[in-house]
Amino acid sequence: MQNSFLDLSSVFSFIPEQEILKLKPEALEAQRTLYEGTGAGNNFLGWIRLPSRTTEQHFAEIEEAVSKVKNNSEFVVLVGIGGSYLGARALYEALTGSFISADTRGGLPQMVFAGHHISEDYMVELCRVLDHHTYSVVVISKSGTTTEPAIAFRILKEHLEKKVGEKEAAERILVVTDAHRGALRQLADERGYRSFVIPDDVGGRFSVLTPVGLVPLAACGIDIRQLVAGSREMEQACDPSVPFEENPAALYAAARNALYRSGKKIEILVNYHPRLHYFSEWWKQLFGESEGKQGKGIYPASVDNSTDLHSLGQYIQDGERILFETVISIAEPTHRMTIPEEPADLDQINYLARRRIDHVNKMAELGTAMAHVEGGVPNIRLIIPALDASSLGRLLYFFENACGISGYMMDINPFNQPGVEAYKRNMFALLEKPGFEEETRKIKTRL
Ligand code: PA5
Repeated sequence: MQNSFLDLSSVFSFIPEQEILKLKPEALEAQRTLYEGTGAGNNFLGWIRLPSRTTEQHFAEIEEAVSKVKNNSEFVVLVGIGGSYLGARALYEALTGSFISADTRGGLPQMVFAGHHISEDYMVELCRVLDHHTYSVVVISKSGTTTEPAIAFRILKEHLEKKVGEKEAAERILVVTDAHRGALRQLADERGYRSFVIPDDVGGRFSVLTPVGLVPLAACGIDIRQLVAGSREMEQACDPSVPFEENPAALYAAARNALYRSGKKIEILVNYHPRLHYFSEWWKQLFGESEGKQGKGIYPASVDNSTDLHSLGQYIQDGERILFETVISIAEPTHRMTIPEEPADLDQINYLARRRIDHVNKMAELGTAMAHVEGGVPNIRLIIPALDASSLGRLLYFFENACGISGYMMDINPFNQPGVEAYKRNMFALLEKPGFEEETRKIKTRL
C-alpha cells in the first residue's frame, strides 16, 4: 500500500495496515459511486475527466484571449471568492515566488485580488495602487450574483472606465461565468467583454482546472499546459482501473477515514515552503465545504512550517489527541543556497556551515514528523519532486479525486454546500435586501 507519491507508513503505527485494508471494499464502492455517477451530487462530476478533455484548442483560445492583458498590464486584478478565487491564488503564489514585484515578474503582470472579502479599507488601498498602474480585471463568478465580488467588480469597473475609457476598459475586462445565466453573463454580452464558461457540471471548489483557474493564471504568464499535463497524469493514476493498493486517491481516502473513525477529527495540511500557504487555503475549502455536513467531516486545518512550529507546534505535539497530519514534501527546492561560515560562531551554527538551507529544512521536517508520531499524531506524506506547475497539477487532481471518494465514504454529498446559505440569509435580512422582508422582520426581533 505504498507508492513514490503517497507514504502511509507512519499511519500504520496507529492503525495496522490490515485495518486500513478492511476499508478497501468501502473505498472501492465509493469510487464506483463517483465514477458511475450514482451518488448524491452526481450532476457535479464534470471535473473527473476534465484534464484529459482539455485540448490544445482550449489552451490556444485562452492564450489568445489573454494576450493583450498579459502584455499591457502591470496588474491583473482577479475578482472572485471561494472556488472562484482560491485555486488561481494558490497556484500563482506557489509558482511565482515569495517576493512578487515588478522586478521579479520580468515584465509579466502581478496578480492582485479583490472580491474575496468586504473590507472597505482594502478596496480604497487597492484603488490607490491601481490609480498609478496599468491593469486589467478578470472577474469570476458562476452565479454572477455573489455579494463580495459583485461589490468589488462594480467599483473596479467604474475605476477602470474612468481611467482608460469605456472602450479600452471593455478590452481589459475578462469574464468567467455561467454559459447562460446570471448578471455577469448579461453584462459580458451587452458590453462585449471577452468571456469564458464555467461548465455547469463543475462546482466552484472543483473548478481550478477550468477557465476559473486557467484564464487568470495564463494572463499572468503561468504555464497552464504543464499544470494540466500534471493533473492529467494524476487522473490516470487515480483511475478505477488502477488497483486499490496502488491508487493514491483511494488509499488516501481510506486512510483518512480510518483515522477519522479512530477519533482523529482534525487533519492538518503541513508545508515547509511558505509559497504553499494559499495551496492550503484552497485545500481547506475543498475538504471543508465538501465533507463538513450532517454533523460529520474531518476539520481541515493547516500550518506553514517551520514558522508554525514556533506557535502551533506546542498544541500539535501535546494538545488534545484528535489530530493527524498530511505533509506536502518537496524533494528539491527551486533555488540553491548554502549557510556561510563565520569565524566567531557566536550563534553556534558553524556546524551547519556550507550545508544547504534545504538540508536543515528537511531535517526539521523529518524530526517534526518523528516527534509528532511519538506524540500521537499520525503523519501522511505526499512527495512531489519540485514546486512546479506539473507537480501542483498532480496534487490538485489527487485531492479532488480523494475528496470525492472520501465524501461518499462518509455518506454525505461532497458536491453541495447548503451550510453556506445560513450567514447569507441573515446578512441579506439585516441589509434589508428586497425579497427578504419576512427574514428582516424576524431578525429585527432578535436584535
Ligand atoms: O465552492 C463553491 O461553490 C463556492 O466557494 C463558490 O465558488 C463561491 O461562493 C463563489 O461563488 P460564485 O462563483 O457563484 O460567485
